[in-house]
Amino acid sequence: MCGIIARIGDGDAITKLVTGLQNLEYRGYDSAGVAIQNGAGISVYKQSGQISELKDTIVGNVPKGNVGIGHTRWSTHGPPTDENAHPHTSETDKVAVVHNGIIENYAELKTWLKEQGHEFTSDTDTEVIPHLFEQYLESAPSIEEAFRMTIRDLKGSYAVAALVDGDHAIYAARQGSPLILGLDNDEYYLASDVPAFLDHTDKVVYFEDGDIAVLEPNGVTMTNLDGDRVTRDVEQIDWNPEDAGKGGYDHYMLKEIHEQPNALANTIEGRVKDGEVKLEDFPKGTFSGIDDVHLVACGTSYHAALYGRHLLNEAGIRAQAFRASEYVGSIPGPVTKNTLVIAVTQSGETADTLGALRQAQEQGARAITVTNVMGSTAARRADDALFIRAGPEIGVAATKTFSSQAVTLSLLAIRLAEDIETAKPPEDKTSLLQSLDRLPDNVEQVLASTDANRIASQYSGSQSFFFIGRGLNNAVAKEGALKFKEITYEHAEGFASGELKHGPLALVTPETPVFALFNGNNDEKTLKNAEEAQARGAPIVAIANENHAAMNVADSFLTIPETHPVWSGLLANVQVQLVSYYAAYDLGRPIDKPRNLAKSVTVE
Ligand code: F6R
Repeated sequence: MCGIIARIGDGDAITKLVTGLQNLEYRGYDSAGVAIQNGAGISVYKQSGQISELKDTIVGNVPKGNVGIGHTRWSTHGPPTDENAHPHTSETDKVAVVHNGIIENYAELKTWLKEQGHEFTSDTDTEVIPHLFEQYLESAPSIEEAFRMTIRDLKGSYAVAALVDGDHAIYAARQGSPLILGLDNDEYYLASDVPAFLDHTDKVVYFEDGDIAVLEPNGVTMTNLDGDRVTRDVEQIDWNPEDAGKGGYDHYMLKEIHEQPNALANTIEGRVKDGEVKLEDFPKGTFSGIDDVHLVACGTSYHAALYGRHLLNEAGIRAQAFRASEYVGSIPGPVTKNTLVIAVTQSGETADTLGALRQAQEQGARAITVTNVMGSTAARRADDALFIRAGPEIGVAATKTFSSQAVTLSLLAIRLAEDIETAKPPEDKTSLLQSLDRLPDNVEQVLASTDANRIASQYSGSQSFFFIGRGLNNAVAKEGALKFKEITYEHAEGFASGELKHGPLALVTPETPVFALFNGNNDEKTLKNAEEAQARGAPIVAIANENHAAMNVADSFLTIPETHPVWSGLLANVQVQLVSYYAAYDLGRPIDKPRNLAKSVTVE
């Protein structure tokens, strides 16, 4: 959780720090702060609330200085108060630190530091870092060594950036939390994610765990915890700054919903050739010998994993999807080298998913990740990575990445079915892949003709919102409900259509619209389930093709173009995303930054 940024170079740092923080605000928005080194002490500005509020505070008294650090917080230790906002400083204000992650041994460090006479002003785990750093500055042979001694004492996960008064440098370290170095001609950046500095440079270096860096105006030195030099490759990011902006839309979420045709085209590009699935690092035979697949993921990615699991099972492959946070306690049977674990994670930084990945690897499984972020922890820890190529997603509610994950997993399911002897690739593979080719256009059609805005107003004020679907559409129904609840704050649930009559029907009233999703598989049963809800007074909103039988039954409709049943749910999902968006808009919710949430959840 949290986002950090740091910058050193020609000219004042403040504007670049604040803009960078705004681009990281999706990582947390409980409080924000910056510290600037200006030759006359370190100036710290920090407060609870969003970055726009910090900006208002700074306007009247813009700090000068070309070296600085910044932070946007998602609270873990201590409430979102001014005191708990980062940067945190040491006893004499000689050191300022920003941190993303959790210091697990902060309590014992704090006790020791208090014994040494340090006084603490916040409830955070982070505050031990500046105090420790200051403590070691007294005895260490150099500032760099004092920083290294500090970092060696920390247990847990961290990306840290620190300033020392009077010293023209930034000290940084990474263990378990993302940290990226951005290299421009006359300046260097550090950040939790690339959009923080993408306006200035697309050349990056990904820190490895255990790396320590010192950034000075004329260069960057990278070492390990023992002080030995390490070299890391400079990589070029293929996102452009416009990808990371709002592009004229009111919200990132709406922009990202509208980016789905492009994102999907990128996801598919080069992966279907001459009627065959070709996945870059997974040529034919890659998966022979695999006899069990475990998909591990959280939230929206878990729903995409459910999609993938369904297709794997249909192909005769033993596959299960697990909520990553539950995986460790519920691994079914022995994990072997013939078990393929697929960690599905947009950010590649979700702690629960990384924990499940590690557990599976320790037990000897083969592990791959399906992720959006090159250089992410998942991409580097897994044996192989398959990128969904959706482009940066800033809105906290995942939208385009769900469709790209589902498509990537569908292609992977075909690849696996071709390699595993006992499996059978889909008989209608040709038509399946042909309709995949048309999927970006189909999404475009939905976006151009949707009635979601009107439907959202029609049912606003309802007590609860239910989403039902069968098979692949069960995954979409669950995803629809998650989207709806996280941005509208209204109660929503997604059910397998057939499950409604086994309990949830008790909740159904004229105040509980039921969104029923149809994809051509067992639709008559889903229609019956919808009618059962309708008979109890619930209005039914059918999401189906124009001439579908559901249209004669439902109270309202959202239409989607004809396509293969495997892709139909992704079109229905676009309609549901838009209904959620407009419902949240009508309610005046902060759509891109829903309360209590953050996009990248790096705590378990
Ligand atoms: C919901 C949402 C979250 C994430 C979840 C996993 O809109 O975005 O539920 O899907 O936190 O995140 P990743 O995919 O980054 O592992």
